[in-house]
Amino acid sequence: MTVSTADPGTITGSLLLGDSHSLHRVAEDLARGMRVAQSLRDTLANRELARTLASWNSAPGHPDAFVASLFPEPSPASNVPFLPKERLLSPREKSAAGDAFTRVLESCEFTSGPAVTAFEDAVADHAGLSCAVATGSGTDALAIALRAVGVEPGDEVIMPANSFAATENAVFACGAVPVLADVTTPDGNLDPESVAERITPRTVALLPVHLYGKLADMAGLRAVADRRGLRIVEDACQAIGVTGVGRYSDAAALSFNPYKNVGLCGKAGAVVTGSAEIAERCRVLGYHAFVPGRKNVKCEAFGLNARIDNTMAAIGLALLPWTGLRGLRRTYLARRYVEALRPLAEEGVIETPAFAPDHSWHLFPVLAAGGAAARDALLERLARASVETDVYYPVLTHRQKTPVRERFFGQADLPRTEWLHDRVLHLPLHAGLSLGEQDRVVEALYAATRRAAA
Ligand SMILES: Cc1ncc(COP(=O)(O)O)c(C=O)c1O
Repeated sequence: MTVSTADPGTITGSLLLGDSHSLHRVAEDLARGMRVAQSLRDTLANRELARTLASWNSAPGHPDAFVASLFPEPSPASNVPFLPKERLLSPREKSAAGDAFTRVLESCEFTSGPAVTAFEDAVADHAGLSCAVATGSGTDALAIALRAVGVEPGDEVIMPANSFAATENAVFACGAVPVLADVTTPDGNLDPESVAERITPRTVALLPVHLYGKLADMAGLRAVADRRGLRIVEDACQAIGVTGVGRYSDAAALSFNPYKNVGLCGKAGAVVTGSAEIAERCRVLGYHAFVPGRKNVKCEAFGLNARIDNTMAAIGLALLPWTGLRGLRRTYLARRYVEALRPLAEEGVIETPAFAPDHSWHLFPVLAAGGAAARDALLERLARASVETDVYYPVLTHRQKTPVRERFFGQADLPRTEWLHDRVLHLPLHAGLSLGEQDRVVEALYAATRRAAA
């Protein structure tokens, strides 16, 4: 496969594309009290961010006041929930989604309809790729993409063990065998060297996961795949908008479930790809293997009922305009955590992620020094201080007590995956988090780690 060598950077002239590199740059500028001089590319996903930046530029105030205006008002409650459901959408987003749903109700175009293609065009545009095929979920997108690149029953697909169950389930859904490779630390992403060691004559594809939103070493994985003629499908369900997604692979799966960075009012996903051929296969496999445009006439043995509904696509079109603004909030909050926690990281009490530009900041992981007992104690002390944290994922794929565990994962040797799993915990980070809540998390973390040391 040829990979475009064009600079993945996001700034063409003075135009910001709206992907993770540009959001990183805007967050850096804002944090340093600088004006954001560049314009954003005119896309649906950039619309609210562009409007917000333009209104600031037309009536410039102090950068701190502008930053404060990007975030919700401080909550009067003293507890900090991890991800409060009622804040998944802002009042304006709820109203836009409601209007979209009302319009679909009037037309009764619930399953197929015009919003599907329009949503797909907007998703492809945001990803910087030529094609998107919208699906009923990220899990569907993964299964369809794997089938579309040629994964057949009995084939092996190499993936990490520290992911949501959807990753392995998509492989099983193809009748294929998930083979677990180890990850790099501290990011927890698939290690190309470990992948190379797991390749057998039955390996057909690699399935890297951009864990917590951080892009895996795609150039390294592509080099391994090319040496052995393998396909790559990215699990980018946590990594929407990340610069580089889809550039080194055959296809990438996105998720729009309500808890994701761009969350809709139900389950939805998409396959994004630069290959029209793979996109066409995804369309066929995603709708009963019917010949494109011909109802009830099949062209393949097997297909799913896994396309997005027109209803959800219409809601998607209504919510996509907030993508850039929501992404900027997450990116700014991530930078703020990294800066505020730097002294603790320098003391070696915790490890924080690097503030990297190839990140969607779907989750903010912290590694607690000292292993699982120390991590659990920290989690508990934070809970007592009314700060809710979580662990993604509490049970690794090869540790799940399922009937297939011994058969498929008995030989799994994943020391770095296990090391990370013992130490990781996640701090609240979502588009509805206020700066005041983040301050409370940081204070609680300082108090909890000082108390542990005392
Ligand atoms: C890493 C990962 N892969 C796959 C999925 C599946 O996405 P969905 O819930 O849209 O099926 C998710 C989301 O839950 C995820 O986090």
